[in-house]
Amino acid sequence: QLCERAITPNSDFQVAALLEVAGGTALMPGVNIECSNWQLGLCAERMAISRALSMGYTRKDFGHLYVVAPKSDYVSPCGACRQVINEHLPGQRIYLYENEEKCLSVTIKDLLPYHFGGDILVKQPE
Ligand code: THU
Repeated sequence: QLCERAITPNSDFQVAALLEVAGGTALMPGVNIECSNWQLGLCAERMAISRALSMGYTRKDFGHLYVVAPKSDYVSPCGACRQVINEHLPGQRIYLYENEEKCLSVTIKDLLPYHFGGDILVKQPE
């Protein structure tokens, strides 16, 4: 149902993401939103994370992330989403759905080994 809200004039490939917030008592939805300028499209995963952050939730509120794309065998987050997931969902499980019954359960450690992260950016003394 959430996929029906995706706006996909370019790809016709709908993706929906649901991020658990508030101890799993609520789900933050995200869908992919494409634009006439193809470069400006937004992915479902980053949409869900950004919405949750802008509503005041923080990393400690985040639970599992569920992702589904009905037109593919299973969906796997793009590189940009992996980087953002690494920043905000470092240990949470990510469920990549193949269909309603079957999914792959991974963490960002599986999807983005040898990552670059903010922890590497040590602030220099002034
Ligand atoms: N897309 C997502 O929203 N999430 C993914 O994990 C993979 C790809 C979107 C981006 C674009 O709107 C469409 O799917 C085709 O790449």
